[in-house]
Parts: sequence; C-alpha cells; structure tokens
Amino acid sequence: MFIVFIGPPGVGKGTQANMLAAKYPMVKISTGDLLREAIKEKTVLGERAKSFMERGELVPDALVIDLVNEKVTGTPKTTNSFIFDGFPRTIEQAKELDHLLATKGVQISMAIDFSMDEEERVSRLSGRRMCPKCQRTYHIRFAKPKNDNLCDVCNVPLIQRSDDDEAVIRQRSSVYWDLTRPLLDFYRQRNLLQTIDASRSIDLVFKDLDKLVSKIKS
Ligand code: AP5
Repeated sequence: MFIVFIGPPGVGKGTQANMLAAKYPMVKISTGDLLREAIKEKTVLGERAKSFMERGELVPDALVIDLVNEKVTGTPKTTNSFIFDGFPRTIEQAKELDHLLATKGVQISMAIDFSMDEEERVSRLSGRRMCPKCQRTYHIRFAKPKNDNLCDVCNVPLIQRSDDDEAVIRQRSSVYWDLTRPLLDFYRQRNLLQTIDASRSIDLVFKDLDKLVSKIKS
C-alpha cells in the first residue's frame, strides 16, 4: 500500500499519518519531519533547507526527492506499505515518486486530499506544540499532553514550531494553492483521489481514513 497525503498546513496530515502508522504496519515518511531532523543535525541538506522553511517556501525539488529516495531505498525490502505525508508537493515530485515506485514494480494505491477552511487551520496551528526530540505533535485544546507542556514519550518541554507564526502559515497556505493543489487533478485523472473533510474531530477524521484504507486492503 502506497498512500499519499495531500493538504494545506494544519489540516491534520501528520496527526492522521501517525494514527494510521500506529494501527497498521506502515512506514510513515514525512518530508517535513525529515527536513526538521536534518536542520537539527546541521547536515548540509538541513543548512540548505532551513531558510526556505523559515520563509514558508518549498524546499527545492531535487533536495526533497533525494531525501525520499534515500529513505525508501533504505527501508528493508520486506516493508511494502508507506504513507507519504506532505510528499509529493509539486507535479515534479509526483512524477519522481511514480518513477521511484516503478523501479520497485509498485505504484500509488491512493492519494488523500484533506480539506478544510483556512481560518480554522490557522487557529489549529497557533495551538500546536511539538516535542523537539521526537517531533510528536500536540494541541493546547484538542490533543493535550498528559502532563502540562511535556511530551508524553520524551518528558521534555514542548515547543512551538518557528514556521507556525501567522504570516508564515499564510505564506505556506499560498504556496499550497499555487504549487501543491494541482496535484489533486494529477491523481484525480488516474482515479486515485479521495477527499476527507478534515474539519471534524481527530477521531471522526480517522474513522473515514481507516474506512478508505480498509478498502485498499480488502
Ligand atoms: P510540513 O511539516 O509538512 O508542514 P505542513 O504541510 O505545512 O503541515 P503541518 O505539519 O503544518 O500540518 P499537518 O497537516 O501535518 O497538521 P497536524 O497534524 O500537525 O512542512 C514544513 C515545511 O517543510 C514546508 O513549509 C516546506 O518548507 C518543507 N517541506 C516539507 N515537505 C516538502 C516537500 N515535499 N517539498 C518541498 N518542501 C517541503 O495538525 C495541526 C495541529 O492541529 C496539531 O496541533 C494537531 O494536534 C491539531 N489537530 C490535528 N487534527 C485535528 C482535528 N481533527 N481537530 C482538532 N485539532 C486537530
């Protein structure tokens, strides 16, 4: 199973990808998480990606494609189910993903479009908190940690992502509309696109997602 998650910032892609990977033996590949990890580790890639992310721009395709390629090829051959969270984000990336999967003799099973209103997303993101160690995300109202402002797993204080500043969120949304939204047609034309109303509670959204995934499995 190779599932692609598409959606604007704050729609809940990461939250749902983690829930799916916890329920099924699927590997989650989140390019946002991988890039933040590279920045934290001060790798050459991280140093190059940093300013793009701080401005709310996309990191150049070539860098992200290399990162995904490395991750997919580095995964044991027995792994045959992936969730791509936030990748692809451009038509160029989508074509490269097709190419990468074709070399393994497989193809995308489904692309899921998570959709909801921008103002609600901005409000979600302003309440988001993240563990600086494991990148697990929380929300001050909708997904609270067990202990005030501490990661449930790492027990370290949660932080706010630097790109969760309102101006940068709006820039990320605008980039989504210009460069990522065209992917919906790309997958729709191949009958691979499904849409989920992401404005509901985390559990209700997951219920729909789980139904869609179960269809592919059966
Ligand atoms: P990335 O980290 O992928 O950010 P994003 O796509 O902007 O998405 P977010 O992580 O902000 O939101 P999400 O949809 O995952 O929501 P979440 O589940 O956290 O990318 C960051 C940057 O990296 C990009 O701007 C770009 O520079 C670069 N980048 C990444 N991939 C790239 C690529 N392929 N190409 C080029 N550049 C790339 O939820 C948000 C909050 O809401 C959380 O607090 C959560 O607890 C809460 N929440 C979730 N669901 C619900 C719900 N149903 N009800 C109430 N609250 C909810």
